[in-house]
Amino acid sequence: MRELMTMFTELRGPRIAIRPLQPDFVSAIYPAIMESREELRPWLPFVEEYERPEGMENLRAFLIRSQADWLLRDNFQLSIWRSADEHYLGAIGLHPRNWKIPAFEIGYWLRTSASGQGYMTEAVRLLSDFAFSVFGAERLIIRCDARNARSAAVARRLGFIQEGHLRNDEMPGPDGKLRDTLIFARIPTDPPMP
Ligand SMILES: CC(C)(COP(=O)(O)OP(=O)(O)OC[C@H]1O[C@@H](n2cnc3c(N)ncnc32)[C@H](O)[C@@H]1OP(=O)(O)O)[C@@H](O)C(=O)NCCC(=O)NCCS
Repeated sequence: MRELMTMFTELRGPRIAIRPLQPDFVSAIYPAIMESREELRPWLPFVEEYERPEGMENLRAFLIRSQADWLLRDNFQLSIWRSADEHYLGAIGLHPRNWKIPAFEIGYWLRTSASGQGYMTEAVRLLSDFAFSVFGAERLIIRCDARNARSAAVARRLGFIQEGHLRNDEMPGPDGKLRDTLIFARIPTDPPMP
């Protein structure tokens, strides 16, 4: 029974800590989204939900749902914090795609003021190590819009291999054009992460 699986309260890397989302984090996460909305909007449509007058309540509701998913071991949404000063940096998720393989997808975003410093690369490395070593993952994927060069760079930097370029795979974004999707993956027998 998945509900009985033991889970961590924190993963620690050299500079960051990753912790499951909880409703109390709303006051740290909301300003980070607001600060970053121009950079998030092209790739992550959820931003629009939080820009409304009831945005903070929408975020609190999402955090409650994420906590419930975590308790049920259905989905793993996490927050990223800078260890030096407990500053909130962004979010990362480990999304089960098929427990029988087991296969997972990793998704992420970083607050704009924390970008360009390698924090997301560190976070993806930590969560990938966890997925392979504890969950016994046989396949980890990262998907992104083909024009999202920064997101693809995180995957490539960590030795995820591009397996696909899916043309006209997603509904139009803010520019009205259909979107292509890149699929990156790692399996346990791939060369170690750079
Ligand atoms: C995707 C996203 C998380 C990438 O952020 P990022 O800052 O480029 O990624 P990292 O935190 O790993 O930082 C890497 C950068 O820091 C630099 N860096 C500095 N110190 C580093 C270190 N110790 N280790 C690795 N990189 C380091 C790298 O050279 C790189 O810079 P460059 O892009 O100028 O080459 C961010 O652009 C984002 O949140 N975008 C909007 C949301 C989004 O698109 N999410 C993904 C949807 S699929």
